[in-house]
Amino acid sequence: MKKILDAISEEMRKAFAEAGYDEELGKVSLSNRPDLCEYQCNGAMAGAKKYRKAPIMIAGEVAEKLKDSAVFSEVNAVAPGFLNLKVSDVFLCDYLKGMEAADKFGLETPEEEKTVIVDYGGPNVAKPLHVGHLRSAVIGESVKRIARYAGYKVIGDIHLGDWGLQMGLIITELQERKPELPYFDESFTGEYPKEAPFTISELEEIYPTASGKSKEDPAYKEKAMENTFKLQNGVRGHRALWDHIISVSVADMKRNYEKLNVEFDLWNGESTVQYLLADMVEEMKKGGYAYESEGALVVDVKEESDTKEIPPCIILKSDGAALYSTTDLATISERVTKYNPDIMIYITDKRQAMHFEQVFRCARKTKLVGDDTKLVHIGFGTVNGKDGKPFKTRDGGVPRLENLIHDIDEEMFRKIVESRQEMPEEEARNIAEIVGLAAIKYGDLSNQAAKDYSFDVDRFTSFEGDTGPYILYTIVRIKSILAKYQDQGGSLENLELAPAISPDEKALMMEIAKFNTMMETAFAECAPHKICAYIYDLANAFNRFYHETKIISEEDEVKKAGLIALLVLTKEILETCIDLLGFSAPDRM
Ligand code: ARG
Repeated sequence: MKKILDAISEEMRKAFAEAGYDEELGKVSLSNRPDLCEYQCNGAMAGAKKYRKAPIMIAGEVAEKLKDSAVFSEVNAVAPGFLNLKVSDVFLCDYLKGMEAADKFGLETPEEEKTVIVDYGGPNVAKPLHVGHLRSAVIGESVKRIARYAGYKVIGDIHLGDWGLQMGLIITELQERKPELPYFDESFTGEYPKEAPFTISELEEIYPTASGKSKEDPAYKEKAMENTFKLQNGVRGHRALWDHIISVSVADMKRNYEKLNVEFDLWNGESTVQYLLADMVEEMKKGGYAYESEGALVVDVKEESDTKEIPPCIILKSDGAALYSTTDLATISERVTKYNPDIMIYITDKRQAMHFEQVFRCARKTKLVGDDTKLVHIGFGTVNGKDGKPFKTRDGGVPRLENLIHDIDEEMFRKIVESRQEMPEEEARNIAEIVGLAAIKYGDLSNQAAKDYSFDVDRFTSFEGDTGPYILYTIVRIKSILAKYQDQGGSLENLELAPAISPDEKALMMEIAKFNTMMETAFAECAPHKICAYIYDLANAFNRFYHETKIISEEDEVKKAGLIALLVLTKEILETCIDLLGFSAPDRM
Protein backbone atom coordinates (compact mmCIF):
# COMPACT_ATOMS: atom_id res chain seq x y z
CA MET A 1 0.00 0.00 0.00
CA LYS A 2 1.20 3.50 -0.78
CA LYS A 3 2.34 5.66 2.08
CA ILE A 4 -0.05 8.52 2.62
CA LEU A 5 2.49 11.12 1.57
CA ASP A 6 3.08 9.24 -1.68
CA ALA A 7 -0.63 9.05 -2.36
CA ILE A 8 -0.94 12.80 -1.83
CA SER A 9 2.16 13.57 -3.88
CA GLU A 10 0.78 11.57 -6.74
CA GLU A 11 -2.32 13.74 -6.85
CA MET A 12 -0.14 16.83 -6.76
CA ARG A 13 2.13 15.59 -9.53
CA LYS A 14 -0.89 15.00 -11.72
CA ALA A 15 -1.98 18.58 -11.16
CA PHE A 16 1.45 19.98 -12.08
CA ALA A 17 1.44 17.90 -15.24
CA GLU A 18 -2.09 19.01 -16.16
CA ALA A 19 -1.11 22.62 -15.67
CA GLY A 20 1.79 22.04 -18.05
CA TYR A 21 4.66 21.77 -15.59
CA ASP A 22 7.15 19.10 -14.77
CA GLU A 23 5.35 16.59 -12.56
CA GLU A 24 8.47 16.10 -10.47
CA LEU A 25 7.69 19.46 -8.89
CA GLY A 26 4.65 17.97 -7.21
CA LYS A 27 6.48 16.72 -4.15
CA VAL A 28 4.46 17.14 -0.98
CA SER A 29 5.83 17.24 2.54
CA LEU A 30 4.38 17.51 6.02
CA SER A 31 3.59 21.07 6.88
CA ASN A 32 6.03 22.98 9.02
CA ARG A 33 3.19 25.39 9.82
CA PRO A 34 0.56 23.02 11.24
CA ASP A 35 -1.46 26.08 12.27
CA LEU A 36 -1.98 26.90 8.57
CA CYS A 37 -2.16 23.56 6.84
CA GLU A 38 -1.49 19.83 7.11
CA TYR A 39 0.78 19.39 4.11
CA GLN A 40 2.62 21.69 1.79
CA CYS A 41 4.16 21.68 -1.65
CA ASN A 42 7.01 24.00 -2.59
CA GLY A 43 7.20 22.90 -6.24
CA ALA A 44 6.08 26.22 -7.66
CA MET A 45 9.00 27.94 -5.97
CA ALA A 46 11.39 25.36 -7.35
CA GLY A 47 9.94 25.66 -10.87
CA ALA A 48 9.92 29.47 -11.10
CA LYS A 49 13.34 29.76 -12.64
CA LYS A 50 12.89 27.05 -15.24
CA TYR A 51 9.50 28.40 -16.38
CA ARG A 52 10.45 32.05 -15.90
CA LYS A 53 7.24 32.72 -14.11
CA ALA A 54 6.35 34.11 -10.71
CA PRO A 55 5.95 31.14 -8.38
CA ILE A 56 2.62 32.42 -7.14
CA MET A 57 1.26 32.18 -10.69
CA ILE A 58 2.39 28.60 -11.07
CA ALA A 59 0.95 27.77 -7.66
CA GLY A 60 -2.32 29.42 -8.66
CA GLU A 61 -2.61 27.42 -11.86
CA VAL A 62 -1.90 24.17 -10.06
CA ALA A 63 -4.42 25.02 -7.35
CA GLU A 64 -7.01 25.64 -10.04
CA LYS A 65 -6.52 22.09 -11.36
CA LEU A 66 -7.14 20.73 -7.87
CA LYS A 67 -10.44 22.54 -7.35
CA ASP A 68 -12.44 19.35 -7.53
CA SER A 69 -9.82 17.01 -6.15
CA ALA A 70 -11.12 14.21 -3.97
CA VAL A 71 -7.83 14.16 -2.09
CA PHE A 72 -7.77 17.76 -0.89
CA SER A 73 -10.34 19.76 0.97
CA GLU A 74 -8.21 22.89 0.71
CA VAL A 75 -5.50 23.97 -1.71
CA ASN A 76 -4.28 27.51 -1.12
CA ALA A 77 -1.67 29.21 -3.24
CA VAL A 78 -0.04 31.72 -0.91
CA ALA A 79 2.71 34.29 -1.44
CA PRO A 80 5.40 33.95 -2.52
CA GLY A 81 4.34 30.67 -4.11
CA PHE A 82 3.64 27.94 -1.59
CA LEU A 83 0.78 25.51 -1.85
CA ASN A 84 -0.83 24.98 1.55
CA LEU A 85 -2.83 21.80 1.69
CA LYS A 86 -5.46 20.07 3.75
CA VAL A 87 -6.62 16.57 2.93
CA SER A 88 -10.29 15.81 2.70
CA ASP A 89 -12.01 13.85 5.44
CA VAL A 90 -13.27 11.33 2.93
CA PHE A 91 -9.82 10.73 1.47
CA LEU A 92 -8.34 10.28 4.95
CA CYS A 93 -11.11 7.91 5.96
CA ASP A 94 -10.65 5.88 2.79
CA TYR A 95 -6.93 5.71 3.44
CA LEU A 96 -7.58 4.30 6.92
CA LYS A 97 -10.04 1.81 5.48
CA GLY A 98 -7.29 0.70 3.14
CA MET A 99 -4.97 0.26 6.10
CA GLU A 100 -7.57 -1.83 7.93
CA ALA A 101 -7.99 -4.10 4.96
CA ALA A 102 -4.29 -4.43 4.17
CA ASP A 103 -1.83 -6.72 5.80
CA LYS A 104 0.22 -4.94 8.52
CA PHE A 105 -1.79 -1.74 8.11
CA GLY A 106 -0.25 -1.19 4.73
CA LEU A 107 3.40 -1.73 5.56
CA GLU A 108 4.96 -3.32 2.50
CA THR A 109 6.79 -6.63 2.79
CA PRO A 110 10.02 -6.93 0.78
CA GLU A 111 9.62 -9.04 -2.35
CA GLU A 112 12.53 -11.27 -1.64
CA GLU A 113 12.82 -12.87 1.78
CA LYS A 114 16.01 -11.75 3.45
CA THR A 115 17.66 -13.10 6.56
CA VAL A 116 18.73 -10.97 9.47
CA ILE A 117 20.73 -12.16 12.47
CA VAL A 118 20.43 -10.06 15.57
CA ASP A 119 23.25 -10.63 18.06
CA TYR A 120 22.10 -9.29 21.41
CA GLY A 121 21.96 -9.97 25.11
CA GLY A 122 25.58 -11.10 25.23
CA PRO A 123 25.63 -12.08 28.92
CA ASN A 124 28.65 -13.75 30.45
CA VAL A 125 28.16 -17.11 32.04
CA ALA A 126 28.27 -17.21 35.84
CA LYS A 127 28.13 -13.45 36.17
CA PRO A 128 24.85 -11.93 37.27
CA LEU A 129 23.03 -9.84 34.69
CA HIS A 130 23.44 -6.18 35.43
CA VAL A 131 21.98 -2.95 34.19
CA GLY A 132 24.20 -2.90 31.07
CA HIS A 133 22.68 -6.17 29.93
CA LEU A 134 19.27 -4.62 30.21
CA ARG A 135 19.91 -2.35 27.26
CA SER A 136 21.28 -4.99 24.94
CA ALA A 137 18.35 -7.28 25.71
CA VAL A 138 15.66 -4.64 25.47
CA ILE A 139 16.93 -2.91 22.35
CA GLY A 140 17.87 -6.18 20.66
CA GLU A 141 14.52 -7.77 21.32
CA SER A 142 12.76 -4.78 19.81
CA VAL A 143 15.04 -4.60 16.77
CA LYS A 144 14.43 -8.32 16.24
CA ARG A 145 10.65 -7.92 16.44
CA ILE A 146 10.68 -4.91 14.14
CA ALA A 147 12.71 -6.75 11.50
CA ARG A 148 10.42 -9.75 11.74
CA TYR A 149 7.36 -7.55 11.37
CA ALA A 150 8.93 -5.81 8.41
CA GLY A 151 8.95 -9.20 6.71
CA TYR A 152 12.45 -10.52 7.23
CA LYS A 153 13.49 -13.92 8.41
CA VAL A 154 15.09 -13.07 11.72
CA ILE A 155 17.32 -15.10 13.99
CA GLY A 156 18.13 -13.79 17.44
CA ASP A 157 21.37 -15.10 18.91
CA ILE A 158 22.41 -14.45 22.51
CA HIS A 159 26.14 -14.96 21.91
CA LEU A 160 27.07 -16.04 25.42
CA GLY A 161 30.40 -15.17 26.94
CA ASP A 162 31.08 -18.78 27.83
CA TRP A 163 34.74 -19.35 27.08
CA GLY A 164 38.06 -18.02 28.26
CA LEU A 165 39.64 -17.19 31.57
CA GLN A 166 36.43 -16.61 33.48
CA MET A 167 35.65 -20.32 33.15
CA GLY A 168 39.12 -21.28 34.34
CA LEU A 169 38.68 -19.02 37.35
CA ILE A 170 35.47 -20.71 38.37
CA ILE A 171 36.95 -24.17 37.93
CA THR A 172 39.96 -23.15 40.05
CA GLU A 173 37.82 -21.88 42.88
CA LEU A 174 35.68 -25.01 42.80
CA GLN A 175 38.81 -27.08 42.98
CA GLU A 176 39.96 -25.16 46.06
CA ARG A 177 36.64 -25.64 47.77
CA LYS A 178 35.76 -29.17 46.77
CA PRO A 179 38.94 -30.97 45.80
CA GLU A 180 37.24 -34.30 46.44
CA LEU A 181 35.00 -33.94 43.37
CA PRO A 182 35.72 -36.46 40.61
CA TYR A 183 36.14 -33.71 37.99
CA PHE A 184 39.66 -32.93 39.11
CA ASP A 185 40.84 -36.52 39.16
CA GLU A 186 42.32 -37.06 35.74
CA SER A 187 42.46 -40.83 36.22
CA PHE A 188 38.68 -40.93 36.80
CA THR A 189 36.98 -42.80 33.95
CA GLY A 190 33.49 -43.28 35.42
CA GLU A 191 30.38 -41.25 34.80
CA TYR A 192 30.21 -37.79 36.32
CA PRO A 193 27.22 -36.85 38.47
CA LYS A 194 24.20 -35.45 36.61
CA GLU A 195 23.63 -32.81 39.27
CA ALA A 196 25.82 -29.74 39.29
CA PRO A 197 27.94 -29.50 42.45
CA PHE A 198 26.79 -25.90 43.03
CA THR A 199 23.71 -23.68 42.87
CA ILE A 200 23.34 -20.47 40.91
CA SER A 201 23.84 -18.33 44.01
CA GLU A 202 27.08 -20.15 44.77
CA LEU A 203 28.18 -19.73 41.19
CA GLU A 204 27.50 -16.03 41.27
CA GLU A 205 29.51 -15.71 44.44
CA ILE A 206 32.33 -17.94 43.18
CA TYR A 207 33.18 -15.87 40.15
CA PRO A 208 33.87 -12.53 41.89
CA THR A 209 35.74 -14.35 44.65
CA ALA A 210 37.95 -16.16 42.17
CA SER A 211 38.48 -13.05 40.11
CA GLY A 212 39.50 -11.12 43.24
CA LYS A 213 41.91 -13.83 44.35
CA SER A 214 43.56 -14.06 40.94
CA LYS A 215 44.34 -10.35 41.06
CA GLU A 216 46.16 -10.75 44.33
CA ASP A 217 47.73 -14.15 44.04
CA PRO A 218 49.87 -14.88 40.96
CA ALA A 219 49.93 -18.61 41.72
CA TYR A 220 46.13 -18.65 41.76
CA LYS A 221 46.02 -16.86 38.44
CA GLU A 222 48.54 -19.28 37.01
CA LYS A 223 46.28 -22.13 38.07
CA ALA A 224 43.24 -20.48 36.51
CA MET A 225 45.08 -20.11 33.23
CA GLU A 226 46.11 -23.71 33.36
CA ASN A 227 42.52 -24.76 33.99
CA THR A 228 41.36 -22.61 31.11
CA PHE A 229 43.90 -24.28 28.91
CA LYS A 230 42.76 -27.74 30.05
CA LEU A 231 39.15 -26.86 29.38
CA GLN A 232 39.96 -25.52 25.95
CA ASN A 233 41.90 -28.64 25.16
CA GLY A 234 39.05 -30.88 26.08
CA VAL A 235 40.16 -32.39 29.39
CA ARG A 236 37.16 -34.53 30.29
CA GLY A 237 36.55 -33.46 33.89
CA HIS A 238 36.91 -29.81 32.96
CA ARG A 239 34.47 -30.16 30.11
CA ALA A 240 31.98 -31.89 32.41
CA LEU A 241 32.25 -29.09 34.96
CA TRP A 242 31.88 -26.54 32.23
CA ASP A 243 28.66 -28.24 31.11
CA HIS A 244 27.34 -27.86 34.65
CA ILE A 245 28.36 -24.24 34.83
CA ILE A 246 26.62 -23.53 31.54
CA SER A 247 23.42 -25.33 32.39
CA VAL A 248 23.04 -23.78 35.82
CA SER A 249 23.86 -20.34 34.50
CA VAL A 250 21.72 -20.61 31.38
CA ALA A 251 18.72 -21.81 33.40
CA ASP A 252 19.02 -18.68 35.50
CA MET A 253 19.45 -16.45 32.45
CA LYS A 254 16.36 -17.94 30.86
CA ARG A 255 14.37 -17.11 33.96
CA ASN A 256 15.62 -13.52 33.87
CA TYR A 257 15.07 -13.00 30.16
CA GLU A 258 11.64 -14.52 30.37
CA LYS A 259 10.70 -11.89 32.92
CA LEU A 260 11.84 -9.32 30.40
CA ASN A 261 9.81 -10.92 27.63
CA VAL A 262 13.02 -11.51 25.71
CA GLU A 263 13.40 -14.70 23.69
CA PHE A 264 16.39 -15.97 21.77
CA ASP A 265 16.31 -18.38 18.86
CA LEU A 266 19.91 -19.44 19.35
CA TRP A 267 21.79 -19.90 22.58
CA ASN A 268 25.18 -19.99 20.94
CA GLY A 269 28.26 -18.52 22.48
CA GLU A 270 31.93 -17.99 22.15
CA SER A 271 32.47 -21.69 22.78
CA THR A 272 30.29 -22.64 19.79
CA VAL A 273 32.87 -21.63 17.21
CA GLN A 274 36.08 -22.81 18.87
CA TYR A 275 36.25 -25.69 16.40
CA LEU A 276 36.67 -23.17 13.58
CA LEU A 277 39.49 -21.09 15.01
CA ALA A 278 42.54 -23.07 13.94
CA ASP A 279 41.47 -23.34 10.30
CA MET A 280 40.34 -19.75 10.13
CA VAL A 281 43.67 -18.50 11.45
CA GLU A 282 45.49 -20.74 8.99
CA GLU A 283 43.47 -19.33 6.09
CA MET A 284 44.19 -15.78 7.17
CA LYS A 285 47.88 -16.53 7.18
CA LYS A 286 47.76 -18.35 3.85
CA GLY A 287 45.80 -15.55 2.25
CA GLY A 288 48.55 -13.16 3.27
CA TYR A 289 46.23 -11.15 5.48
CA ALA A 290 47.57 -12.07 8.89
CA TYR A 291 51.16 -11.37 9.86
CA GLU A 292 53.23 -11.35 13.00
CA SER A 293 53.71 -8.13 14.86
CA GLU A 294 55.44 -7.95 18.24
CA GLY A 295 54.79 -11.65 18.68
CA ALA A 296 51.05 -11.35 18.04
CA LEU A 297 49.23 -12.32 14.87
CA VAL A 298 47.38 -9.35 13.39
CA VAL A 299 45.45 -8.19 10.33
CA ASP A 300 45.75 -4.58 9.21
CA VAL A 301 42.39 -2.94 8.79
CA LYS A 302 43.37 0.64 8.03
CA GLU A 303 41.78 2.29 5.03
CA GLU A 304 42.86 5.28 2.95
CA SER A 305 39.84 7.32 3.89
CA ASP A 306 40.27 6.89 7.65
CA THR A 307 40.31 10.09 9.62
CA LYS A 308 41.14 8.36 12.88
CA GLU A 309 43.61 5.68 13.85
CA ILE A 310 42.23 2.16 13.45
CA PRO A 311 44.67 -0.28 15.07
CA PRO A 312 45.17 -3.70 13.49
CA CYS A 313 42.78 -6.47 14.46
CA ILE A 314 44.59 -8.90 16.75
CA ILE A 315 43.87 -12.51 15.85
CA LEU A 316 46.17 -14.31 18.31
CA LYS A 317 48.01 -12.93 21.31
CA SER A 318 51.73 -13.55 21.63
CA ASP A 319 51.02 -16.62 23.81
CA GLY A 320 48.90 -17.99 20.99
CA ALA A 321 45.60 -17.41 22.77
CA ALA A 322 42.51 -16.41 20.80
CA LEU A 323 40.70 -13.20 21.70
CA TYR A 324 37.23 -11.72 21.76
CA SER A 325 37.75 -10.59 18.14
CA THR A 326 38.90 -14.04 17.06
CA THR A 327 35.66 -15.65 18.24
CA ASP A 328 33.61 -12.87 16.72
CA LEU A 329 35.30 -13.45 13.36
CA ALA A 330 34.73 -17.19 13.56
CA THR A 331 31.12 -16.53 14.51
CA ILE A 332 30.66 -14.43 11.38
CA SER A 333 32.09 -17.25 9.34
CA GLU A 334 29.79 -19.82 10.96
CA ARG A 335 26.73 -17.64 10.48
CA VAL A 336 27.55 -17.14 6.82
CA THR A 337 27.89 -20.88 6.30
CA LYS A 338 24.78 -21.85 8.23
CA TYR A 339 22.33 -19.05 7.55
CA ASN A 340 23.75 -16.94 4.73
CA PRO A 341 22.34 -13.77 6.31
CA ASP A 342 21.85 -10.54 4.40
CA ILE A 343 22.30 -8.46 7.52
CA MET A 344 24.00 -9.07 10.87
CA ILE A 345 23.14 -6.61 13.60
CA TYR A 346 25.08 -6.44 16.87
CA ILE A 347 23.78 -4.65 19.91
CA THR A 348 26.33 -3.80 22.58
CA ASP A 349 27.62 -0.94 24.65
CA LYS A 350 28.93 1.78 22.36
CA ARG A 351 32.34 1.46 24.01
CA GLN A 352 32.74 -1.63 21.84
CA ALA A 353 32.47 0.42 18.65
CA MET A 354 36.16 0.07 17.80
CA HIS A 355 36.08 -3.67 18.39
CA PHE A 356 33.30 -4.05 15.84
CA GLU A 357 34.89 -1.66 13.39
CA GLN A 358 38.00 -3.83 13.43
CA VAL A 359 36.12 -7.12 13.30
CA PHE A 360 33.87 -6.00 10.44
CA ARG A 361 36.75 -4.70 8.39
CA CYS A 362 38.80 -7.78 9.07
CA ALA A 363 35.90 -10.07 8.12
CA ARG A 364 35.49 -8.24 4.81
CA LYS A 365 39.15 -8.07 4.04
CA THR A 366 39.72 -11.76 4.73
CA LYS A 367 36.55 -12.61 2.78
CA LEU A 368 34.77 -14.32 5.64
CA VAL A 369 31.81 -12.33 4.48
CA GLY A 370 30.76 -11.12 1.03
CA ASP A 371 30.34 -7.50 0.03
CA ASP A 372 26.58 -7.75 -0.09
CA THR A 373 26.19 -8.77 3.55
CA LYS A 374 25.57 -5.80 5.78
CA LEU A 375 27.30 -5.71 9.15
CA VAL A 376 25.80 -3.26 11.58
CA HIS A 377 26.82 -2.34 15.09
CA ILE A 378 24.32 -0.52 17.24
CA GLY A 379 26.19 0.91 20.20
CA PHE A 380 24.11 2.03 23.14
CA GLY A 381 24.88 4.56 25.83
CA THR A 382 25.22 4.19 29.57
CA VAL A 383 22.41 3.84 32.05
CA ASN A 384 22.95 6.54 34.65
CA GLY A 385 21.45 7.10 38.05
CA LYS A 386 19.22 10.08 38.73
CA ASP A 387 22.36 12.12 39.40
CA GLY A 388 23.46 11.65 35.79
CA LYS A 389 26.43 9.49 36.81
CA PRO A 390 26.76 5.79 35.91
CA PHE A 391 24.24 3.85 37.90
CA LYS A 392 25.55 2.39 41.16
CA THR A 393 24.01 0.56 44.10
CA ARG A 394 24.24 2.16 47.54
CA ASP A 395 27.45 0.29 48.28
CA GLY A 396 28.97 1.36 44.98
CA GLY A 397 28.39 -1.88 43.07
CA VAL A 398 26.74 -2.36 39.69
CA PRO A 399 23.01 -2.86 40.18
CA ARG A 400 21.70 -6.29 39.31
CA LEU A 401 19.05 -6.44 36.68
CA GLU A 402 16.78 -8.43 38.95
CA ASN A 403 16.86 -5.74 41.60
CA LEU A 404 16.04 -3.02 39.11
CA ILE A 405 13.03 -4.94 37.90
CA HIS A 406 12.01 -5.56 41.50
CA ASP A 407 12.23 -1.84 42.38
CA ILE A 408 10.10 -0.86 39.42
CA ASP A 409 7.50 -3.55 40.14
CA GLU A 410 7.24 -2.47 43.77
CA GLU A 411 6.74 1.16 42.85
CA MET A 412 4.19 0.21 40.21
CA PHE A 413 2.35 -1.95 42.77
CA ARG A 414 2.28 0.94 45.21
CA LYS A 415 0.83 3.27 42.58
CA ILE A 416 -1.78 0.80 41.41
CA VAL A 417 -2.97 0.01 44.92
CA GLU A 418 -3.11 3.72 45.67
CA SER A 419 -5.51 4.45 42.83
CA ARG A 420 -7.38 1.15 42.93
CA GLN A 421 -8.00 0.32 46.54
CA GLU A 422 -10.63 -2.28 45.75
CA MET A 423 -8.31 -4.40 43.61
CA PRO A 424 -7.30 -7.77 45.13
CA GLU A 425 -3.60 -7.85 45.98
CA GLU A 426 -2.77 -10.69 43.65
CA GLU A 427 -4.28 -8.98 40.66
CA ALA A 428 -2.52 -5.75 41.55
CA ARG A 429 0.79 -7.66 41.70
CA ASN A 430 0.23 -9.18 38.28
CA ILE A 431 -0.70 -5.87 36.75
CA ALA A 432 2.27 -4.21 38.43
CA GLU A 433 4.55 -6.68 36.65
CA ILE A 434 3.00 -6.05 33.26
CA VAL A 435 3.05 -2.28 33.68
CA GLY A 436 6.47 -2.38 35.32
CA LEU A 437 7.94 -4.06 32.28
CA ALA A 438 6.45 -1.37 30.07
CA ALA A 439 7.91 1.28 32.37
CA ILE A 440 11.42 -0.17 32.10
CA LYS A 441 11.37 -0.90 28.40
CA TYR A 442 9.74 2.33 27.34
CA GLY A 443 12.08 4.25 29.64
CA ASP A 444 14.97 2.70 27.75
CA LEU A 445 13.64 2.51 24.20
CA SER A 446 12.22 6.02 24.06
CA ASN A 447 15.82 7.29 23.99
CA GLN A 448 17.90 7.07 20.90
CA ALA A 449 20.07 4.00 21.61
CA ALA A 450 23.41 5.81 21.48
CA LYS A 451 22.36 8.29 24.15
CA ASP A 452 22.95 7.81 27.86
CA TYR A 453 19.85 8.01 29.99
CA SER A 454 18.95 8.20 33.65
CA PHE A 455 17.13 5.31 35.23
CA ASP A 456 14.47 7.22 37.07
CA VAL A 457 11.95 4.99 38.83
CA ASP A 458 9.58 7.89 39.61
CA ARG A 459 9.48 9.16 36.08
CA PHE A 460 9.37 5.75 34.39
CA THR A 461 6.42 4.61 36.49
CA SER A 462 4.39 7.78 36.09
CA PHE A 463 0.98 7.48 34.42
CA GLU A 464 1.48 10.85 32.84
CA GLY A 465 3.95 12.08 30.28
CA ASP A 466 6.12 10.22 27.82
CA THR A 467 6.12 6.89 29.69
CA GLY A 468 5.20 3.25 29.21
CA PRO A 469 2.43 3.36 31.81
CA TYR A 470 0.84 6.33 30.02
CA ILE A 471 0.70 4.36 26.78
CA LEU A 472 -0.78 1.34 28.56
CA TYR A 473 -3.24 3.58 30.34
CA THR A 474 -4.45 4.81 26.97
CA ILE A 475 -4.90 1.28 25.66
CA VAL A 476 -6.73 0.24 28.82
CA ARG A 477 -9.00 3.26 28.44
CA ILE A 478 -9.90 2.18 24.90
CA LYS A 479 -10.45 -1.40 26.02
CA SER A 480 -12.84 -0.25 28.70
CA ILE A 481 -14.89 1.89 26.29
CA LEU A 482 -15.12 -1.03 23.89
CA ALA A 483 -16.20 -3.31 26.73
CA LYS A 484 -18.90 -0.83 27.71
CA TYR A 485 -20.09 -0.64 24.12
CA GLN A 486 -20.37 -4.40 23.98
CA ASP A 487 -22.12 -4.53 27.36
CA GLN A 488 -24.76 -2.26 25.90
CA GLY A 489 -25.33 -4.71 23.09
CA GLY A 490 -22.95 -3.24 20.53
CA SER A 491 -20.90 -5.55 18.36
CA LEU A 492 -17.33 -5.02 17.20
CA GLU A 493 -18.04 -6.87 13.97
CA ASN A 494 -18.83 -5.05 10.72
CA LEU A 495 -18.06 -1.59 12.01
CA GLU A 496 -17.35 0.98 9.36
CA LEU A 497 -15.01 3.93 9.74
CA ALA A 498 -16.61 7.27 8.95
CA PRO A 499 -15.07 10.56 7.83
CA ALA A 500 -13.96 12.73 10.75
CA ILE A 501 -16.49 15.16 12.16
CA SER A 502 -14.24 17.15 14.46
CA PRO A 503 -10.70 18.53 14.23
CA ASP A 504 -9.62 16.26 17.08
CA GLU A 505 -10.97 13.23 15.33
CA LYS A 506 -9.21 14.22 12.15
CA ALA A 507 -5.97 14.76 14.03
CA LEU A 508 -6.24 11.25 15.45
CA MET A 509 -6.89 9.83 11.99
CA MET A 510 -3.88 11.69 10.62
CA GLU A 511 -1.68 10.09 13.28
CA ILE A 512 -2.98 6.63 12.46
CA ALA A 513 -2.26 7.21 8.78
CA LYS A 514 1.43 7.71 9.56
CA PHE A 515 1.90 4.20 10.92
CA ASN A 516 3.34 2.47 7.86
CA THR A 517 5.61 5.41 7.01
CA MET A 518 6.95 5.43 10.56
CA MET A 519 7.50 1.66 10.57
CA GLU A 520 9.55 1.77 7.42
CA THR A 521 11.95 4.25 9.01
CA ALA A 522 12.02 2.45 12.35
CA PHE A 523 13.16 -0.68 10.54
CA ALA A 524 15.60 0.99 8.14
CA GLU A 525 17.27 2.82 11.00
CA CYS A 526 16.92 0.01 13.61
CA ALA A 527 15.28 2.67 15.72
CA PRO A 528 12.70 1.57 18.31
CA HIS A 529 12.66 5.13 19.65
CA LYS A 530 10.76 6.14 16.51
CA ILE A 531 7.98 3.79 17.52
CA CYS A 532 7.94 5.28 21.02
CA ALA A 533 7.74 8.81 19.67
CA TYR A 534 4.95 7.72 17.35
CA ILE A 535 2.80 6.04 19.98
CA TYR A 536 3.27 8.95 22.32
CA ASP A 537 1.86 11.27 19.65
CA LEU A 538 -0.86 8.78 18.84
CA ALA A 539 -1.83 8.37 22.50
CA ASN A 540 -1.93 12.15 22.93
CA ALA A 541 -4.07 12.54 19.81
CA PHE A 542 -6.39 9.84 21.08
CA ASN A 543 -6.74 11.35 24.54
CA ARG A 544 -7.48 14.81 23.14
CA PHE A 545 -10.12 13.29 20.89
CA TYR A 546 -11.55 11.26 23.77
CA HIS A 547 -11.94 14.31 25.99
CA GLU A 548 -13.76 16.26 23.28
CA THR A 549 -16.03 13.54 21.96
CA LYS A 550 -19.03 11.74 23.35
CA ILE A 551 -18.72 8.17 22.27
CA ILE A 552 -20.84 5.85 24.36
CA SER A 553 -23.56 8.49 24.72
CA GLU A 554 -23.59 9.30 20.99
CA GLU A 555 -27.18 8.85 19.81
CA ASP A 556 -26.67 8.52 16.08
CA GLU A 557 -25.93 4.81 15.72
CA VAL A 558 -24.04 5.10 12.44
CA LYS A 559 -21.86 7.86 13.81
CA LYS A 560 -21.30 5.86 16.96
CA ALA A 561 -20.25 2.78 15.00
CA GLY A 562 -17.76 4.93 13.09
CA LEU A 563 -16.28 6.21 16.34
CA ILE A 564 -16.03 2.71 17.74
CA ALA A 565 -14.33 1.54 14.55
CA LEU A 566 -11.77 4.30 15.02
CA LEU A 567 -11.18 3.18 18.60
CA VAL A 568 -10.65 -0.39 17.48
CA LEU A 569 -8.11 0.69 14.88
CA THR A 570 -6.29 2.96 17.34
CA LYS A 571 -6.09 0.11 19.83
CA GLU A 572 -4.81 -2.36 17.24
CA ILE A 573 -2.07 0.00 16.15
CA LEU A 574 -1.03 0.81 19.69
CA GLU A 575 -0.98 -2.88 20.58
CA THR A 576 1.04 -3.74 17.50
CA CYS A 577 3.55 -1.05 18.39
CA ILE A 578 4.01 -2.08 22.01
CA ASP A 579 4.41 -5.67 20.93
CA LEU A 580 7.26 -4.51 18.70
CA LEU A 581 8.75 -2.77 21.71
CA GLY A 582 8.46 -6.03 23.63
CA PHE A 583 5.71 -5.44 26.16
CA SER A 584 1.93 -5.75 26.42
CA ALA A 585 -1.08 -4.10 28.02
CA PRO A 586 -3.26 -5.45 30.84
CA ASP A 587 -7.06 -5.39 30.61
CA ARG A 588 -7.32 -2.93 33.43
CA MET A 589 -4.99 -0.99 35.65
N1 ARG B 1 29.80 -10.87 26.22
C1 ARG B 1 30.11 -9.60 25.65
C2 ARG B 1 30.26 -8.55 26.75
O1 ARG B 1 29.85 -8.78 27.87
C3 ARG B 1 29.06 -9.11 24.67
C4 ARG B 1 28.90 -9.96 23.45
C5 ARG B 1 28.33 -9.18 22.29
N2 ARG B 1 28.27 -9.92 21.06
C6 ARG B 1 29.32 -10.20 20.29
N3 ARG B 1 29.15 -10.92 19.21
N4 ARG B 1 30.51 -9.74 20.55
O2 ARG B 1 30.79 -7.52 26.50
